Amino acid sequence: MKASRRFPILIDLLLAHFRTHGNLTVGACGEMAPGVALFLPEGLEPESLPPSPSLARPLAITGPLPPDWGPWPHFGISRGRFRAAIPLDPGTDLYGTGEVAGPLRRNGRTVILWNSGYPGYAKDEGRRLYQSHPWVLAVRPDGSAFGVIFDTSWKAELECGVEIVCTSQGPGLPVIILRGPTPADVLRSLGDLTGRMELPPRWALGYHQCRYSYVPETRVRDVAREFRERGIPCDALWLDIDYMDGFRVFTFNPQGFPDPAGLAADLGAMGFRLVVTINPGVRAEPGYPVFDSGTRARAWITTQAGRVFKGKVWASSCVFPDFTSPRVRAWWAGLHPPLLEAGVAGLWNDMNEPSIFDGPDLTLPETARHAGGGGLRPGSHLQYHNLYGMLMVRATRDGLLGARPDRRPFILTRSNFLGGQRYAATWTGDNYSTEGDFKLATPMSLTLGLSGQPFNGPDLGGFVGDPSPSLWARWVGTGAFFPFCRGHSDKGTRKKEPWAFGPGVERTARIALLRRYRLLPYLYTCFQEAAATGLPVMRPLFLADPANPALRSEERCFLVGGDLLVVPPGTRSAPRPRGPWHPLSLVEGDLEDRHQARLFARGGSILPLGPGAMCTAEAPEGATALLVVPGEDGRAQGRLYHDAGDGFAYRNGDFRLVTYQAELRGDIVDLKILSTQGRRPRPAANITIERLLPTGDRAFCWEGPF
Ligand code: NOJ
Repeated sequence: MKASRRFPILIDLLLAHFRTHGNLTVGACGEMAPGVALFLPEGLEPESLPPSPSLARPLAITGPLPPDWGPWPHFGISRGRFRAAIPLDPGTDLYGTGEVAGPLRRNGRTVILWNSGYPGYAKDEGRRLYQSHPWVLAVRPDGSAFGVIFDTSWKAELECGVEIVCTSQGPGLPVIILRGPTPADVLRSLGDLTGRMELPPRWALGYHQCRYSYVPETRVRDVAREFRERGIPCDALWLDIDYMDGFRVFTFNPQGFPDPAGLAADLGAMGFRLVVTINPGVRAEPGYPVFDSGTRARAWITTQAGRVFKGKVWASSCVFPDFTSPRVRAWWAGLHPPLLEAGVAGLWNDMNEPSIFDGPDLTLPETARHAGGGGLRPGSHLQYHNLYGMLMVRATRDGLLGARPDRRPFILTRSNFLGGQRYAATWTGDNYSTEGDFKLATPMSLTLGLSGQPFNGPDLGGFVGDPSPSLWARWVGTGAFFPFCRGHSDKGTRKKEPWAFGPGVERTARIALLRRYRLLPYLYTCFQEAAATGLPVMRPLFLADPANPALRSEERCFLVGGDLLVVPPGTRSAPRPRGPWHPLSLVEGDLEDRHQARLFARGGSILPLGPGAMCTAEAPEGATALLVVPGEDGRAQGRLYHDAGDGFAYRNGDFRLVTYQAELRGDIVDLKILSTQGRRPRPAANITIERLLPTGDRAFCWEGPF
């Protein structure tokens, strides 16, 4: 069907008058919220806009723009395509743009917004990856900031040049500009608009171990036993595609996994959760219950001619659920109870760009048809491709919540879209076990955090290929501080479990992961902040000190929350945000191990710490120590959040968020509780108060009921 017949008003107005080139004026515009402005090109009426999949609330103008408003977009048509551009002040640094294989600072870069499942960040020089985020964060030389959402899911290009430009293959699109005094304010506003990550279950913050594939189940049990015998912390073991019966989703291979519930129960008794992969492709095979029920539910994407589309994934011809339809999402959600009854704790949605080995450009044809529904109009794959992964994880989340309404869902997805943090965490796909991809992992994760997705991380150690022992050791030394922390590796690669590289690297892994588990109270507090505000867990240095030009391109070092600075091994002379920063040792031997990241605590902070544990189930609720790091004025402040670690009672006040304040008087640390929110009781055990000296030594102060 010709585009002009699907979008009569828009295309007539936009294209008939400006056949290939021309300017369009701004039509409707106004404030959506304080500091947030909506701009529509002429011909696009606010009432005609369908609900935006990125936004957690409707696109609506609530009042006029303030007289001093800026920046303004320009709209136009260029070579027959709709173009929206935002002019920039000289010296403005650009960030965000979603999942990208490149530097943190995005100036001079173009990304193609077309979710793609090519391995190794290789396609189009890495300019398109598994996810799309039509979003740019701009920071001016004085540290003031604004952000831009180009509110479209159509295939598009996003260019960070002298202007920020989005050129779309779809019709005219709304532009939303968020301005704030600082980049952190803009990110909070992005969280208000696109929604925030929900607080994950606490176990998901632990270390995860995966491989393509641990098969049969005896191998899974061996891996579990090794972790516990060797005293290396781990919370979750993952099953990749070979656990299934002939790659049929929602089945277990009866030879390799004869008793999934027994496996999950035994792993559970050892403190492990089981996470399994589910791909969107459903084997097209009459007699297979998922195929049959999907066929009855008319669940499949069709070709332009209206026939069910089939494409090859893994060993077979598959059909693909049309997640644009609420009816199909409900059908998909309903497939989950048996997996959960078998004891599966979390879901891994992979290949959901969707990746199709014999499809054009490794996916569905752009002309394939989606039924839509629930506000989404029927449309082509060109319009809905970028939303496929996000709509899939939305359905998966509905499935988990429907079957276990009292448990927080944990879902990891490869494909997603701006706003998708509402449904799932993410990892950065098939990286290589190379020095280059190790270095790239930090700006990639930082950039996702600056694009609304705080819960993310790479395949630790690299997926494709064999790392040297030293590379794997440095990767775990650094990766232990990423929000999502999972070791994974490809079929045919060497063993990459923490002990597979010999005793030296095993010791490094034990120390690195124990450091993470000691930091669990701090990390959980950072996750709560991200869930409440939209601020990332893992932050670029410039976020702490946006007017400092020296920090704008720093992409080796990063912050966890506001108070912990991570300097990866081998990093020399990195700039730092305003300090002072004191060296921090968390586990015996960490300072002497050259493969560990160096950690620094911010003067003026109080870090809540735990004792360290082999899994989060063993870790006590709340903190066992408060590490007071006095600033130059002798004062410090910090927060601790704790709750039941799972479930939703925290939404009704069953949590405790304490703000502590400390002051150094001579050698004495005076600590008090400044405020407490929530009604969850304080854990019974006393908390030890320690002081971090500028040398990195720690002085015991006292212990008390905090
Ligand atoms: C592709 C994913 O990116 C990778 O992590 C996974 O191991 C393979 N699919 C097999 O499921």
